[in-house]
Amino acid sequence: MIRGEGLEKTYRRGGQEVRALRGVDVEIGTGEFVFVIGPSGSGKSTLLHVFGALDRPTAGRVLFDGQDLAALADRDLSLFRRRRIGFVFQAFNLVGTLNAVENVLMPVLPEGLGPDRVARAKELLSRVGLSERTAHRPGELSGGEQQRVAVARAFMNSPAVILADEPTGELDSKTGLEVLATIRRMNAEQGTTVVLVTHNQELLAPGDRVLSMRDGKIVEDRRVPAKSPDNL
Ligand SMILES: Nc1ncnc2c1ncn2[C@@H]1O[C@H](COP(=O)(O)OP(=O)(O)O)[C@@H](O)[C@H]1O
Ligand SMILES: [Mg+2]
Repeated sequence: MIRGEGLEKTYRRGGQEVRALRGVDVEIGTGEFVFVIGPSGSGKSTLLHVFGALDRPTAGRVLFDGQDLAALADRDLSLFRRRRIGFVFQAFNLVGTLNAVENVLMPVLPEGLGPDRVARAKELLSRVGLSERTAHRPGELSGGEQQRVAVARAFMNSPAVILADEPTGELDSKTGLEVLATIRRMNAEQGTTVVLVTHNQELLAPGDRVLSMRDGKIVEDRRVPAKSPDNL
């Protein structure tokens, strides 16, 4: 599904070079749910941006279902992002003047609205547990509810992949777990691949695949072990 080969990303700011990615090789399969953890500044967001074509790598390439993203022109990349990727950010990024259902519809606005799309947006809101909140604006929703609207929005275009960057970072621990449970359920029901960056080890469950980043590299690719009496 997503394959990163020799990914490097160097930012140049002023006279300074920052090597945010220093050779990442990774393969993520269709329908997988993959966590990315690591200290601040280790390159997690950069990796997500490169996967989602928000940013081009300095070296190496991303193959998306076999398609080399480097071969796409900028306008094809934006179409690719809109059609194939659902983004969820730490800060929700909802439009304050629009209600929940209108926010969920945002990704399809360039292609036009129709009754079927409005129905899908409402259906997604009900899947994330917000069927009673479709007419509420972000300011009238709790943080957890706002993030669930953002999750519904990310799924609106039936993307192949959801890329979530610290989606629970601004939520308390219980609400964060609820939002994660929503994303896990959507992954299971829709078969959508999910790559989720988090600081919060509490979110991990036995069997989860976890990529650990450090200094721009994946230093570990493991599965969370099943709970045994020894490590309870
Ligand atoms: N647009 C940018 N310009 C310059 N440096 C950047 C930019 N984005 C990220 N960096 C730097 O790249 C490194 C990795 O950043 P990032 O991928 O955001 O890490 P993480 O998400 O793991 O905290 C950091 O040193 C950061 O300061
Ligand atoms: Mg980050």
